[in-house]
Amino acid sequence: MKIYKAENYDKLSERAASIIGAEVVSNPECVLGLATGSTPVGTYGYLKKWYHAGLLDFAGVRSMNLDDYKGLKPDNEQGYYYFMKQNLFQDINIKPENTHIPDSMETDSEKACSDYERTIEESGGVDLQLLGLGHNGHIGFNEPGEIFEKNCHCVTLAASTVEANKRFFERAEDVPSQAYTMGIGTIMRAKKILLLVSGKDKSGILNRVINGPVTPKVPASILQFHPDVTIIADKDALSEVD
Ligand code: F6R
Repeated sequence: MKIYKAENYDKLSERAASIIGAEVVSNPECVLGLATGSTPVGTYGYLKKWYHAGLLDFAGVRSMNLDDYKGLKPDNEQGYYYFMKQNLFQDINIKPENTHIPDSMETDSEKACSDYERTIEESGGVDLQLLGLGHNGHIGFNEPGEIFEKNCHCVTLAASTVEANKRFFERAEDVPSQAYTMGIGTIMRAKKILLLVSGKDKSGILNRVINGPVTPKVPASILQFHPDVTIIADKDALSEVD
């Protein structure tokens, strides 16, 4: 694992965007695995800025998002497609048909997940997967459990995740209880992984991800076994890492 300590969130974002930007420049038809949540927002900001400055071209880029809630319409403001449109897609020249996310409106979970896994496989696989880290060590919506899930699957969200996500919804009962997510295996098949972690509140879990045993109880700990992982974290998030 390569660990890069950023002075603050803005520097973290700039560094992450420079790694993603380098991928886009060196491989204009790359497949980017993308994440939602608050952590990558700054990174997307830099990508948009560099696109507008003429430094990046997304015309040939394809994207695969990590996850989405089950049952939210694509235009729902809390849905992850809406998030991606607002925070990145509408400001860059990525083609809408090249952007992929699990089909949140598909009620047949097995179909939604096997279709998405196939879409990723048929793209040739993810070249660079961007990840955020949940407070309980989750990546995508892979919650702590007894096994590492191999493929895309439907999950029932942990109470702590529903709690963390409820800030985005008007009422706690509006937070969906299930989601479709890439599996740990899907994530581990990405050629390169970029994990972004910001804030003191993630320092304990980040230490377990980097130095703790590899266990499905801390899903992100599996990244210790990936051959090409870069962690970019700010000082606060790294404050418990030796
Ligand atoms: C988002 C995702 C989640 C988040 C994680 C951290 O697509 O899959 O795993 O990356 O919950 O979220 P933030 O960045 O909001 O702390």
